[in-house]
Amino acid sequence: MNDLITNKVLLGDVREVAKLLPDNHFQAIITSPPYYNLRDYSEGKLENEIGKELSHVEYVSNLVEVFTILKSKLKNDGLLWLNLGDTYKNKMLLGMPWRVALALQDSGWILRSDIIWHKPNAMPSSIKDRPTTDHEYIFMFSKNNEYFYDSDAIREPHKTFSEDSKMKGGRNHFGKVNGTPEKGKNGGNSNLHDGRWNQAFHPKGRNKRTVWEIPLGKFKDAHFAVYPEKLVEICLFASTKENDFVLDPFTGAGTTGVVACRNSRKFVGIELVDKYQGMSQKRIDEVTVQSSIFDMIHTK
Ligand SMILES: C[S@@+](CC[C@H](N)C(=O)[O-])C[C@H]1O[C@@H](n2cnc3c(N)ncnc32)[C@H](O)[C@@H]1O
Repeated sequence: MNDLITNKVLLGDVREVAKLLPDNHFQAIITSPPYYNLRDYSEGKLENEIGKELSHVEYVSNLVEVFTILKSKLKNDGLLWLNLGDTYKNKMLLGMPWRVALALQDSGWILRSDIIWHKPNAMPSSIKDRPTTDHEYIFMFSKNNEYFYDSDAIREPHKTFSEDSKMKGGRNHFGKVNGTPEKGKNGGNSNLHDGRWNQAFHPKGRNKRTVWEIPLGKFKDAHFAVYPEKLVEICLFASTKENDFVLDPFTGAGTTGVVACRNSRKFVGIELVDKYQGMSQKRIDEVTVQSSIFDMIHTK
């Protein structure tokens, strides 16, 4: 079974196909389902397309059904990363990402983080009676209180003791676990007790924050916005190791698969629309062929 599905994008409705996948198999699910009432991926041809429900209540309940099936497919220490954007209906912001997040929480998922994906290059809009939206959400869910999370893999540069900081002396403590700042140049600043050492001086940077500034992705063959590879990389590096299995149940143009395979993870995708199933499988095949050629050259 594993060999048959590894690095494959399976065609069909996620609610049918996911049931056939092995239980307790995936270390991470990284995905972006269709947003409510925004696009028509199957060009009106498929009734089981998610996102086209007449009411947003039905949309939420369909996503709860999907992620309830997928929960048994995720390993007990695995993570789900869910990217969602919001929708306006009759001038009203529906708050869809949070409606879905809270419904998943009610269904038993543990919501561990809400991340704002800030898009510095978001499309300009003609709107004049409210601010232009330039963010989406990424929710990080776990099945259990304990799970695999590699915080070191996604640290970001320190800001507290940057060149501009008022507390410049603190920079001398970078990388020195024993040199706590209160004994150093900051004259016993109680803000910098031992417990904060990791936050302020960890040699690999500070712990990842919850606002991620990442420009929108581009993939010319897809007629919809794909999410950026950088965004997938952060989720992937934080929640998986090499050879782990990663699932994207709404594969689209295959960004999750491309990033997973390029980084020596094993991927399984599900996609309803045959055009996108073909497109994503082709992209993933290109990456896996390149990787095997690279391996052949380097193992000689
Ligand atoms: C937002 S797109 C995913 C884009 C993807 N993250 C990327 O970067 O290319 C959502 C995808 O979900 C697919 N989809 C919609 N309903 C589905 C269903 N019931 N089962 C599986 N896939 C579905 C759509 O055809 C679309 O390709």
